[in-house]
Amino acid sequence: STLEMEVEQIKKGNFEHFMQKEIHEQPDSLTMTMRGRLIRGEQKIKGVLLGGLKDHLKTIRRSRRIIFIGCGTSYNAALAARPIVEELSGVPVTMEIASDLIDRQGPIYREDTAIFVSQSGETADTLQALEYAKSNGALCVGITNTVGSAIARGTHCGVHINAGCEIGVASTKAYTSQIAVIIMLALALGDDSLSTQQRRNAIIDDLYNLPNKVRDVLKLDKDMKELAALLMEEQSLLVFGRGYNYATALECALKVKEVSLMHSEGILAGEMKHGPLALVDETLPIIVIATRDASSSKQQSVIQQLKARKGRLIVMCTEGDAESMCPDRTCRLIEVPQVQDCLQPIINIVPLQLLAYHLTVLRGFNVDQPRNLAKSVTTQ
Ligand code: G6P
Repeated sequence: STLEMEVEQIKKGNFEHFMQKEIHEQPDSLTMTMRGRLIRGEQKIKGVLLGGLKDHLKTIRRSRRIIFIGCGTSYNAALAARPIVEELSGVPVTMEIASDLIDRQGPIYREDTAIFVSQSGETADTLQALEYAKSNGALCVGITNTVGSAIARGTHCGVHINAGCEIGVASTKAYTSQIAVIIMLALALGDDSLSTQQRRNAIIDDLYNLPNKVRDVLKLDKDMKELAALLMEEQSLLVFGRGYNYATALECALKVKEVSLMHSEGILAGEMKHGPLALVDETLPIIVIATRDASSSKQQSVIQQLKARKGRLIVMCTEGDAESMCPDRTCRLIEVPQVQDCLQPIINIVPLQLLAYHLTVLRGFNVDQPRNLAKSVTTQ
């Protein structure tokens, strides 16, 4: 009805679409996610406080394994935060797509901690995996955006991401808040170790500044619109990432395919020579995520090898690294501000969300409700 349409427009505020609004909201949604949870006391004592988990941290630290379980974007968020959870907890971390865990009836034990990541808290596959893990005696932790949801209710303990209501079918602000929460979880798990204190303090300092950095990177909106105009007629887009930003590559490709209906594939750069390299020619556009971290020199050589095959490269690098990442200046660049390596995926995904958004608008598709997809998949 017209009334419903007017209400919709009011909810969108100054934006044309919910996805656009939710992308631009991320400085605020991240602030909400961290509110009251970061401690920056005197004497360099810094830490995080996750009320819903504090009585279970010991059990999680002692578990034999942490298993992240989710679908779609929520799975990607857990994948993005996996390295820092491993680093700070010392506990092995494995990843499960909920439906695959159920299909395989994969082994889960009492000594495991199963962490369920879901924006809606109602996804059928994730919910079924939760029942399965519970019946196997694992400690079940929920990370959701929906208070009172089935997953929030059915888990033993958990954390709300507090990102605010997300309406666009393609998840954006929930993704960055999920990553932030899992990083805070890693910090809480590592709290008992003196040897990681400096590292943890540096991450906490950057978490404080993160909303401002996201505000900075949102200024790339115009550039991303230009890039979208350049790519709008393409059939396909490859995205190479590794390390902390393997998940960024998967999530960029998921955004591009689900809203702009362009084929896109996220590729682990370490696997380039085992197949994907065969696709490279002078026509196919390729995004390479090469922001500064322990694996960026490897990404530098990936860029060189893709260039040797005349690849059409779009390189995402840290501000100031353009020269070293692309000395011959033949790549298109997306330069982003630097944060602690484990937080970089939160910054890096933002311009790529904008790219997916603008591609969709230019290609004339429905941004907020892509064909055939639903916001919450409550059937199998
Ligand atoms: C659907 C949505 C995705 C979402 C996925 C998992 O496919 O369209 O945006 O990532 O479900 O949803 P959840 O609510 O469990 O995070």
